[in-house]
This record gives sequence, structure tokens and C-alpha cells, in this order.
Amino acid sequence: MNSSAIAVSGLRKAYGDKAVLDGIDFEVAAGSVFSLLGPNGAGKTTTVNVLTTLLRADAGTVRVAGYDVATGTRQVRAAIGVTGQFAAVDELLSGRENLRLMADLKRVRSGAQVVDRLLERFDLVAAADALAATYSGGMRRKLDLAMTLVGSPRIIFLDEPTTGLDPRSRRTMWGIVRELVAEGTTVFLTTQYLEEADHLADRIAVLDQGRLVAQGTADELKRQIPGTHVRLRFATLHELDAAARALPEATRDAQELLLRVPSDGESKSLRALLERLDAHALNAQDFSVHTPDLDDVFLALTGHASTEETHQ
Ligand SMILES: Nc1ncnc2c1ncn2[C@@H]1O[C@H](COP(=O)(O)OP(=O)(O)OP(=O)(O)O)[C@@H](O)[C@H]1O
Ligand SMILES: [Mg+2]
Repeated sequence: MNSSAIAVSGLRKAYGDKAVLDGIDFEVAAGSVFSLLGPNGAGKTTTVNVLTTLLRADAGTVRVAGYDVATGTRQVRAAIGVTGQFAAVDELLSGRENLRLMADLKRVRSGAQVVDRLLERFDLVAAADALAATYSGGMRRKLDLAMTLVGSPRIIFLDEPTTGLDPRSRRTMWGIVRELVAEGTTVFLTTQYLEEADHLADRIAVLDQGRLVAQGTADELKRQIPGTHVRLRFATLHELDAAARALPEATRDAQELLLRVPSDGESKSLRALLERLDAHALNAQDFSVHTPDLDDVFLALTGHASTEETHQ
């Protein structure tokens, strides 16, 4: 048995003459969390739609749960659960009725019990019999995810599951994802939040304009970018330019009036840096030591918002 829950190779999809997915390849190990990270319009939902048989690819092969999505559509559908970017909840039914409907559709045995357990797990017992139309956005998302879990699918697709959630609900969602993985479920997750991918994912792929610009663990991705540095923010472009001349090793971000100076972050080096600024009668309004995070990875890999940094 192949240990890949998902295997994608050479996947292409265009709308008209616009290539939305321009040949992407990745594999997801069974029982792991894989996160597809990308900004608006990168092609995340398109990828999810192809992988979940909702959309036909133009080229490439996609295997999910061991079946080709093109020829084994029925088998793939039986193995997966999908929570779309926009909640699939029926607002004119109660939370319980929504879950019950899903249990009936999936012909789940002892449906009522399964529904009760899910309501409890998602903290929706008190609201179970109210119309979903009266739910808050977070409650709706939770109900949507609960509906996905009916029938215990082996592979779950979550398209931006925490967009629009408050920090607490986001943590709850993360907890649920971790529980699912502990039970052996494979989770394919899209997100715009680097922090989320960093927290949850075993592997991350960064999607930008239809291409995967990087893949790896959060640590591997972090290693691909410049290390610790000091950030100096100046009040005016004039001062920024003067500082850039005084510190030629720095990279300059004119939009943010920011200078990034490579540094080990030790007090001795920081003092030396400040002395150099002093020597040129320069004053930084803001001074911080920055250890790289996934945000930096993203900016470095996609070039967005970092185009200013390359020239001096
Ligand atoms: N049915 C469609 N017809 C034409 N173009 C489409 C269609 N669906 C998506 N696109 C285009 O494909 C590109 C990728 O869209 P997609 O929805 O996959 O992005 P996304 O990464 O999910 O973005 P978001 O973070 O906003 O959800 C966008 O440029 C979008 O306009
Ligand atoms: Mg989307």
C-alpha cells in the first residue's frame, strides 16, 4: 500500500488563456498535515477543487486515497471530506438537522449518536436546535467542519478553515485538526496565515501565481531565507538613504522606510551598530532584532513586498 494519501504531478488548470495552476507537483503522506500557503488568487481553491473531484484538471495526474480523481471519482469521494472556503451550511435548518442530513446522505449508521457526539465536540450543544441562520460566523464554520467529519473520512480538505475566525475560535480549530491527525486522518489545509501553517503543518507548499515556489517543513523553509537581522525604521526617505550609505551591508525598503541589517543579535554587535549610526548622526525611530519567521519566507520566495529591498 502506497503511504501517500495524495499524489499530484504536473497538475495544470487554465481558465480561458489564464493559467491558474501551471504544473504543480506534491505528495502528502498519510496521517500528516499538508498546508498549501498562498495569497488571494494564488490558486488554492482551484487546487482543492481538482483534488476533491469538483473540477477537472487540464493536465497532470492526481491520486487521492490511492485512486485517480479522473477515473476513480466515486472511490475518491467516498474517502474524503471537504470543508469549502464558503460554508455549505443550510441556514434554514438547525445545526442538528444539518448534521443529520449529512449523516443520512452518507448513510452513516447510528446517525443520531454520531450527530450528538459531533455537537458536543464542537461545543454546539446549546445551539443545536437553533436555525443555522442565527449562528455567528465562527459557529457556522464549526458546524461546517463538523458536517465534514460525519462518516469519519480518512482524508480531509479544509479550504481556509480559520479565515474570519477570532483568535480563540482559531485555536479551537487548530486543536481539532491536531486531534484528527492524532487519530490518523490526513489533513490538506489551505491558508493565508503563515502562523497557521507554521503551527499545524508537517509540510508546507508555497503557491504563488499557479506555481509552487517552495516546499518543505516550516524549518526547511525558514532556512532558505536570510537569518537574524536588525530592523531600523527612519522618519524620512532622506535619513533612510543616508543610513543605507552608512551601512552598505543593509537592504533597504523604501516603502516602509526600513533598513534590514544582518546581525547575530548579540549585545556587542548591537552596540557596534548603534555606534555607527551615532557616528553619522543618524537616529532610527524604531529598532528591533528580528528572527526570521514564515512571513519572511513568503516575502522572500514570492518577491511580493520585497521588490524594494534589492536595490540600494
Ligand atoms: N470559474 C472561474 N473562472 C475564471 N477564473 C477563475 C475561476 N475560478 C477561479 N478563477 C481564477 O483563478 C485564480 C485562482 O483562484 P482561486 O480561487 O483558486 O484562488 P485562491 O488561492 O483560492 O484565492 P483566495 O485566497 O482568494 O481564496 C484567480 O485569478 C481567479 O480569478
Ligand atoms: Mg480560495
